[in-house]
Parts: sequence; C-alpha cells; structure tokens
Amino acid sequence: MNRWNMLAVILLIVLVGGCGPANPGGQDDTYFRRADSLLQLLSLEEKAGQMTNIGLTALTQGPFWNDFDTLLLDTAKMRHLLLEYHVGSIQNKGIYPPSREEWHRLIKTLQQYVLENSRHQIPLLFGIDAVHGANYTAGSTLFPHQIALAASWNPEMARITGEITAYEMRASSQPWNYAPVLDVSMQPLWGRLFETFGEDTYMNKVMGNAFIEGQQGTSLSDTTSVAVCLKHFVGYGTPFTGKDRSPAYIPEHYLRQYYIEPFRTGIEQGAITVMLNSGSVNGIPGHADRYLITNVLKGELGLKGFVLSDWEDVGRLASMHNVAHDSKEAAKIAVMAGLDMSMVPYDASFARHIVELVTEGEIPMSRIDDAVRRILYVKFRLGLFERPWHDPSGYTEFGSDAFAEKSYRAALEGITLLKNQDELLPLKNRNTRILVTGPASDALTALNGPWSRTWAGDDPTYDDPGKKTILQAMQDVYGTGNVVHTPGTGYEGEVESEAILWAKAAGVDAILVCLGERPATEKPSDIDELDLPSNQLELVKRLHKSGKPIILATLQGRPRILRDIEPLAGAIFHAYWPGHEGGRALASLISGRENPSGKLPYTWPRYSGTLHTYQHKGSDKLDGEFGTEGFHPQWEFGHGLSYTNFTYSGLEVSADTLNTGEELVLRVNIRNTGPYNGKEVVQLYLRDLVASITPDDRKLIAFEKIHLASWESTTLEFTVKYEDLQFVDLNNQWIAERGDFELLVGGLPSDMLKSGFFYTGKTP
Ligand code: BGC
Repeated sequence: MNRWNMLAVILLIVLVGGCGPANPGGQDDTYFRRADSLLQLLSLEEKAGQMTNIGLTALTQGPFWNDFDTLLLDTAKMRHLLLEYHVGSIQNKGIYPPSREEWHRLIKTLQQYVLENSRHQIPLLFGIDAVHGANYTAGSTLFPHQIALAASWNPEMARITGEITAYEMRASSQPWNYAPVLDVSMQPLWGRLFETFGEDTYMNKVMGNAFIEGQQGTSLSDTTSVAVCLKHFVGYGTPFTGKDRSPAYIPEHYLRQYYIEPFRTGIEQGAITVMLNSGSVNGIPGHADRYLITNVLKGELGLKGFVLSDWEDVGRLASMHNVAHDSKEAAKIAVMAGLDMSMVPYDASFARHIVELVTEGEIPMSRIDDAVRRILYVKFRLGLFERPWHDPSGYTEFGSDAFAEKSYRAALEGITLLKNQDELLPLKNRNTRILVTGPASDALTALNGPWSRTWAGDDPTYDDPGKKTILQAMQDVYGTGNVVHTPGTGYEGEVESEAILWAKAAGVDAILVCLGERPATEKPSDIDELDLPSNQLELVKRLHKSGKPIILATLQGRPRILRDIEPLAGAIFHAYWPGHEGGRALASLISGRENPSGKLPYTWPRYSGTLHTYQHKGSDKLDGEFGTEGFHPQWEFGHGLSYTNFTYSGLEVSADTLNTGEELVLRVNIRNTGPYNGKEVVQLYLRDLVASITPDDRKLIAFEKIHLASWESTTLEFTVKYEDLQFVDLNNQWIAERGDFELLVGGLPSDMLKSGFFYTGKTP
C-alpha cells in the first residue's frame, strides 16, 4: 500500500468513525474498530514507539534538565525520536511555565511534524500533571489542591475544578491529564497526602467521580474535555514508613476494601487511563504486579483504555526494586504484567527493548497488540486525529475573573476552622488592627503549594501578577494602616527576637500567624518527623507572651503536630494549599464576610508517634496502662467549626431490621440555631458492632452539604443500603454479617445522634 492509499484508508476510517458522543457503549466499538484497522498497518517498531512516552525536553535544544525560559524544538532529536523510534506520546515541560500560545506553538509543531513525515500520521498524545488547574500554563486558574477540595465536602467543587481545568488544558492543546490522584492515604507522614482526597474511601470515590465528570464531560473529543489518568494504582498512598515511593504492606482484603474501590468507581464513571504505583505492595513493585494490573485493573475493573507507568519506573524495576537484572528484563516484566505505555522519559531505550524482546520471543505480539490497540483507542476517542491541537484564541475565558471566582468559592468551602475559643472570630470590625506574620503570610507560593508553575512550586519568580497573598488580602479588608507585618521566621531558621515581635504587636488587637510547610512533593516532601519545625513553634510561643489574641493559620498539605502551641491560639484555621484565591478566602473568613464550612478529610494526630486514622479499631481505643493514650487525636476526621450552630433532632430510621438486598431510610432534622447563615456538612456513619474481621470504629457512608439561613431548618433523608454493611472477608469477597449496627449522624464527630438496627442475614 502506498502513502496515498494509506491516507485514503485513514480518511475512510475517520469518516466512518465520525464524531458524536464518545463514551456510550456502542461508540466504543467504533473506536476500537478504527484502532484495529490502524493497528494492522503498523510494524513492530511503530507499535513499540506508540508504547513509549518521553519528556518534552528530550525533543528540545539543550540538556533534558535545562533552565531555559523558551523551549526551542530540536529537529535532529525530533527525527531521531519521532521518526526513527516512532515515539507516540510526550509529556511534561521544562522549568518555566509556557503560556498557552507557546504550548500551542510547541504541540502544533510536533503534531505537524509527525503528520507530515511519518508513515501513518498518528497524532502524538500529550500528557501533563494539571492537578489543581492547568498549573503548568502561565496565567491559568489555580484551584485548591485535592485535599482542600475534599475538605469542602462538596463534590461540586471537585466537578467545577475538573471542568475548568479541562477547558484551560485544551486551551493549551493538552488533551490528557495525570489526575485525579485516587490514592486513599492513611499515612500523614506521606508528603503527597495533599494531592489526594484524604483518608476515607467513600470520600475518594465521591470526589474522584465528580472530578472525572468535570474533566471528561459527555464526550472526550469535545474541545473542552480531556482524558483523565487515575493514579497511582494501587496502595501508593499508604507507605509503611511514610516515605514516598517506598513499600506498603496491605493485605488483599484491605486493598480491595479501602484502596481499589475509588479506582473501580472511577473506571465505572468512564476514566480511560491509569498510572501505576511507583512503590511496592507486599513486596511486589506496582509495575511488576501482573495480578493487580491484568487480573484486577483490566479484568475485574474493566479498564478500556491503557495503563501508563510512572516516571522512569520501568527501569526502576532493575535500578531500585531489584526484581530485574537490567532495563531490558524490567521492560519484559512490566509489559508482561500488563503495562501498556512506559513514561521513560529520557530516551527511546524502552522502544528498543520491546522490539528486541518480541523478536526474541520473550513477549508475544498479542500482548503488544493489546497495548497498542488500547493506546490508539484513546487517541481516537480524544478526537486527536481530527484536532491534534487547539487554537488558544478560541478559549476566551482562560484565566478569567469568572474562573478565579470559582477557585475562590472552592477555597472558601475547604478552609477549615478547627478552634474558635470564646468566639474570638469573626473579627467583624473593619478597624481592627492586626499583626500578620509567619513564613506563609506573604507568599503566593504558600497558597498554591507544589505543582504550581513549577514542580516544587516554591519559586516566586513565576508568581502571577495581581494575585493576593494573605497579607495583601488582609490589608484589603482591614485597610493598610491597620495591618502590620513582620516575617517572624522562615519555614526553618532564626526567629525574630521577642523585643521586635512585641514592638510589632504593641498596637494591635490580634495576631494572625501563618505557619506551614515549604512547598514540595514526591521525594523532596519526605520528612523525618511530623512535628512542625521548632522555629515555627517558637514564633507562636514568643508572640503569645505579648498577651494579644492569636489566630493561627496552617498552610500545608498534611497535619503537623500542633499540640504544644494549640492552647496558645484562640482560633485555628487549616487552610491546606488553597490556591491562588486562598488569601482572599482566608481574609473573608476571618472578617466574617463568609462563614467557614470546611471539615477535615483526615485525622489530625496529637503525637508524632501515634498515627491513627478515623477507621481505627477497638484495640486502638485502649488507653495505655503506662501513660500512653489511645485514640485521642488533636482533631478528628470530619471536624470543622462554623460561626453559627447547627442543632440536630428527630432522628428516625424507617425500620429496626434489614434483610439482604434491602434499604433503610434515615431522616433527621437540622436547624441553624445561631446568628449567621451558613453551610453545614451532614455526615452519616455506620458502625458494625461485631464482625469476623475486627470492624472499624465507623465508616462514612453518606454526606451532604446544605445551606441554612439563621434559624432556618430542614429535614434530610439518607438511604442506607445493604451494600453499606459489607466488608471484604479473607476470601476477598464482599460480605455482610448478621448482627447489630449503629448509624451515627451529625456535623461534628464529637456530637452525633445515634440509632441502631439489626441485619437479619436473611434474603426476603
Ligand atoms: C509522579 C506522577 C506524575 C509524573 C509525571 C511522577 O514522578 O509520581 O504523579 O504524574 O511524575 O510528572
């Protein structure tokens, strides 16, 4: 077949395939048919290239890790990687964040190059981490990180974040997002906790699905939809030591009950690609686990698209995990385990290994065909053959005030008021004089955290003009003359003297201290202890001696131990990494312009060495006979205060027994009995009193965020399903056991209404 015949075949495939709604069942056949037809035309080398994903800077002038402020494509590298090795997927960026026009130039040039020079004109698939907005495009909207979205307990915040991020990604010609992170994390030491939806499985499912819905829309080929990549399958978020990319030990029944579930529901929701866990679970590296990748992810969960490795992780089967002798054997192990595409990302060695391994009979062609078919299917569904790039000028709402307003609302709903002694807050009087201090008080990087313009997100060179730090936002609310500032200390290092601090505090009515972590992710976010650095604690101690009321705000993505300074603060906010509008949001909450409604999506430990999660077991509750405490965290999962009060009453459950397959209806009245309008998160937990596997203290089975004006009331109804009673037994089956259960409903874990019922174990 010559080049023109081939073009005609492809055109025919495109025309027959058509556009229209992408996801619904029947259409999948069309996309797979198109993939199959194209697959038949590919050589082994071309197939291996499709399975290879390299870094953008492997195609640009200069070294891979350059610090240029313009990326110039290198034609020799393009010829080598895109034509000689047929590489089919590209990802990431250099150091600085390109504008959307520059993204357009880069991606269009690469796509045109492939379309004009390659045999089959298969467009490249470009992937990137747009984990809280299109964070690697200059001027994009930066949202709160996932953990802060979870703290909103409002799935709409996750959906909107997903939707706007997709729009701004396509404005940057980026069709594929390495998000959301669906790693349930029960390990507060782990530095990537902020990238997750927290420690609860149900929360991860609900928020994950809302985000996916926003990203993928009704059709992946829409000019405002992108493909998600769920990550990191599976168990990555609960490493035993808390260090990134380190071993987890999770029995299969727990893997299934807590960790696989969000991936299962995400794939049901239409998630089309999945990235693997860089670490290991029960001694098997995530990239070598045939059972989990092929049997569970592709088989049971039914992933239709493809499985991507994490960064360099195929090679690391040899260089880090020691389950392969060299990178070629590593490639064989990973591909035979079910991996479809390798994020190499420096060169085409993986493609070379694949060709050799197939030629030597080490990998059957059927496995390669399966992988490439899945990859082509995704490319067809994304509409890349029809539109390999997008005109950025068509995206007029990119970085708009309207989008910033959505980010502001998301930040407002997530920021969590942990303590408010004697109603210190809100500070409604606009003439209040305030000292604003602390390492996070005057930095945009402290609001956005990692994955913001740069990977670490700690470089102010890339600050967006016009965005407000906490200090600036406080000045806007209270007036520049009323707001005094001093840094106090850095994330680490010296603390200003008491003399200086007290002098600054002398004329003020209150002190806002903004503490936190220097933005970091992955390995650089590893820590050796959960305590905040001592200089930050010392700052609060010195300020406390001034006698002025202290409001503490923590800007960080995991709980750090506050035990010693908690009593010194009258009010405490946990702001997570709330994004670009987080400074404004915090100032609005402090001043009472808005009422806090966030709730913790993780348990906040009191001690560095006592790391319970809310699911803890009965034995965790035992107070030690020798002075240690049982389950006694600083603040519980689900805790978060409002300026108003919500009173619960009239709990009714439709029956006191439940049979297999049946449902119960729970009703409860909620009244806003305080002086402010506000939002409340109504939480419903289930407690299994006796089970053959020691039951969790409680399990979140539903929640709803409602708005009530002062003295307004409402009645909420929740359905409790038979499935809610189930857990995974030692045969890895979901079962429910006959016996007594309790339902707990309320807005604060310390204050819940309770009702019981009996599950008969009988099928009616
Ligand atoms: C991270 C992934 C990320 C990838 C690409 C890896 O190091 O673990 O979460 O998607 O890099 O940037």
